Amino acid sequence: MPKLTFLVSGLTVDVPTGTRFLDACRQHDAPHEFGCTVGSCGTCILSIEQGAANVDKASADELETVEMCTDHAGARLGCQLVIRGDLAVRPLER
Ligand code: FES
Repeated sequence: MPKLTFLVSGLTVDVPTGTRFLDACRQHDAPHEFGCTVGSCGTCILSIEQGAANVDKASADELETVEMCTDHAGARLGCQLVIRGDLAVRPLER
């Protein structure tokens, strides 16, 4: 089962493959902030510091929102991530 690690808090949880990051955060009361939950506000923006290949590729709509929020290479929207393997994430400033 994939491990999801929140680097700021050090929390690591096990999540079934195919779990949405948003759902994993809600189920484990994890320390990550969300807003719209549909990929348009950028509140959930994060950096995947380990396991960037273990999520689905970003859609064009996700990339558009990311570009409006940050120039951090490889930034993703937490509300759009589906977990396929181990991940370690850190929130980004917008
Ligand atoms: S919560 Fe709004 S873009 Fe993810």
